[in-house]
Amino acid sequence: MKLNADVTGSGPALVLLHGFPLDRTMWDSQVGPLAATHRVVTLDLRGQGKSEAAPGVYGMETMAADVFETLDGLSLTEPVVLAGLSMGGYVALAAVAAKPERIRGLILLDTRAIPDTPEAASNRETSARKLESDGNVGELVDGMIPRLFGATTRATNPALIEATRQSMLGNRPGGLAGALRGMAVRPDRTPLLASITVPTLVVVGAEDQISTPTESESIASAIPGARLVVIPSAGHLTPLENPEATTQAMMTFLAELEQS
Ligand code: MLT
Repeated sequence: MKLNADVTGSGPALVLLHGFPLDRTMWDSQVGPLAATHRVVTLDLRGQGKSEAAPGVYGMETMAADVFETLDGLSLTEPVVLAGLSMGGYVALAAVAAKPERIRGLILLDTRAIPDTPEAASNRETSARKLESDGNVGELVDGMIPRLFGATTRATNPALIEATRQSMLGNRPGGLAGALRGMAVRPDRTPLLASITVPTLVVVGAEDQISTPTESESIASAIPGARLVVIPSAGHLTPLENPEATTQAMMTFLAELEQS
């Protein structure tokens, strides 16, 4: 499936993959600064934002295939730098597993290599069925918000939380259900990590309760040569909660990558 995408700037291609239940606007603070040196592609993954919400289970492999099809449609067939937050990171890892030759650098933000526990997978199925029966995106979003944002944001930035909530509410129940079911069946990517040969940056919020700093440290130490940057005063949504530090970490990594 071709995805709804925006391309900003020129230079080597950098593709930004959003988390769940968000859309490409989550990268709004990053696009301007990163587009000074790169052709930045932001896209809405299958079923979210303005991309089509086809029926079915959105496996991470299917979402990765959508990303490649979209890049082909934009004539971006050279290897790209892929950055993904959380679910976007699951998709990035599926993309590396499927077509490593199309990737020249990786930025994994607030994401996980391990699969869902049976309990987590079953909770996702319950949420997916509920979304399909009552269409209540607000209930899902409000249930997730306390875990998505760090303690600092919750204490100091209610306006950010409300703006993000509004953007999440724009998602369609069927699209969110497909993504939930796809995340529930994602494979264990831990064995893949040691085989990643491209420069990799791992970013995590110091207050992330979903993909913790400890877990991110394990990911970074399993990928040869990878670096970990811990973003202060941020939970799971580092690009939104501490945009300056997150953008800076990405820019530093990209500058080094382009020099190597
Ligand atoms: C995300 O931010 O994409 C989600 O928290 C991922 C997940 O539910 O595993």
